[in-house]
Amino acid sequence: MSLAVVTGAARGIGRAVAERLVTRHSLLLVDMSQAVHETAAQLGAVAVQADITQPEGIAAIVAAVDGASEPPAMLVNNAGITRDALIHKMEEAVFRAVVRVNLGGTYALTEALAGRIVDGGSVVNLSSRAQLGNVGQFNYAVSKTGVIGCTRALALALAPRLRVNAVAPGFVESDMTRAMPARVRERVVSAVPLARAGQPEDIADAVAWLGSEAAGYLTGQVLYVCGGRSFG
Ligand SMILES: NC(=O)c1ccc[n+]([C@@H]2O[C@H](COP(=O)([O-])OP(=O)(O)OC[C@H]3O[C@@H](n4cnc5c(N)ncnc54)[C@H](O)[C@@H]3O)[C@@H](O)[C@H]2O)c1
Repeated sequence: MSLAVVTGAARGIGRAVAERLVTRHSLLLVDMSQAVHETAAQLGAVAVQADITQPEGIAAIVAAVDGASEPPAMLVNNAGITRDALIHKMEEAVFRAVVRVNLGGTYALTEALAGRIVDGGSVVNLSSRAQLGNVGQFNYAVSKTGVIGCTRALALALAPRLRVNAVAPGFVESDMTRAMPARVRERVVSAVPLARAGQPEDIADAVAWLGSEAAGYLTGQVLYVCGGRSFG
């Protein structure tokens, strides 16, 4: 089985992606949280506890990839954070922190691993429906719009050898969204045409499909998985 690298895989969407990919790939799971060791043990995967914003974190991931029995066929850039605040209350450090993880981490790891991914392999980046604009998420929207630009530019740069696509989830139940006030969660979910919150498995299915041969003629695309809330 070929190798897949999934970041932010200790919990939430990243963990669901790992659970979805485990039948077709050996897995290298990356997360800054030590919980990644437990997740990896449960899935028979290799864990790398590393921060994708730090050069030593990227070096540790590269070393683990080079130590694996086969090169990667898939990279899922899923690790991400939110630090919500209204624009006039947002400190520059908070703006930079979100862009640094969501966009900088995606760039740094893709730059480090792209040459190691086998011909015909693929990269899937996690953007967000929030890139269309959400009050209080100026930094997050900037970072996730950047992920789309990164996806399109890399798709062209790495074609025809690799495919690069993005998934843009809407509201998904995870620790990230459980941190939101209940009234905000209810308001957001009530605006979803399909009338429910997304589950991590909804996103994992889309990520797995984009990485599969069934999506072999797609590159540079953004797939909104948001219950229909991508317009209006
Ligand atoms: N939950 C949603 O509604 C939603 C919607 C749209 C997009 N997304 C995106 O999907 C991805 C996963 O979201 P989630 O809801 O599962 O979040 P989550 O907070 O539950 O999990 C994110 C994981 O990323 C890890 N992580 C954070 N910063 C890291 C770093 N610097 N280095 C390594 N690991 C790091 C965390 O430790 C955590 O395990 C994120 O990119 C997020 O922006 C989520």
